Amino acid sequence: MKRAQYHLSLALASLVTFVGSVQADDAAEKKDADQVPVALHGTPKIDGEVDDAWAKCPEIAVDKIVSGESTASKDTMATAKVKLLWDDEHIYALFHVKDSKLSDSGSQAYEQDSIEFFVDELNQKAGTYQEDDVQYRVAFNGDKSGGESYDEGDLKSAVKKTDDGYIVELAVKLSHVKPKEGTKIGIELQVNDNDGSGSRVAIAKFHHDENDSYQSTTDFGTVELKD
Ligand code: BGC
Ligand code: CA
Repeated sequence: MKRAQYHLSLALASLVTFVGSVQADDAAEKKDADQVPVALHGTPKIDGEVDDAWAKCPEIAVDKIVSGESTASKDTMATAKVKLLWDDEHIYALFHVKDSKLSDSGSQAYEQDSIEFFVDELNQKAGTYQEDDVQYRVAFNGDKSGGESYDEGDLKSAVKKTDDGYIVELAVKLSHVKPKEGTKIGIELQVNDNDGSGSRVAIAKFHHDENDSYQSTTDFGTVELKD
């Protein structure tokens, strides 16, 4: 090969590599964008029946294991698929929890089979809880609880057992943000799994793989409100 030809083929090879890496970056960005969960506009009836309002909502997987707090494996732990809706005053969630053994043994509310819904209305991810940050919890048996700033009046929920677990349908009152198309809200979604032994054997989350959401909003995920 002549020297000039050799240089040309080297240049071509690096161009191919460069284009390839740009395409890979684009694909990664697109994947990230696809993963920003959305809540659609709508008002469901909170009764544990899955009404039409939920039909078009994309599902968010709550299947990230919090390994430091889990003795059960990722394959056997309780997980959930969650849909979100919003209207002028609320954000709504529908949790479809897959859990092979339902149990409320365990003295602490978070040890019982339950879901948790964390909201950072102003999406500031400010660390320690501010006035607009709240932790909500609903057990499979319908019991409601929450963190420090929790006000039971702001949470409406209904539960129902299914063949492979349970459903939680809930409404949370928004009082620090006037929601509209494009608004971003900080959220985390959590499933607590008790295997009947009296304690929690796994935590599954949607965004962060550590058991820190009840203390800090820093690593909450984000949901975007869409029409
Ligand atoms: C955590 C528990 C914590 C509880 C406090 C839960 O989200 O997983 O470890 O003690 O919140 O309410
Ligand atoms: Ca369970």
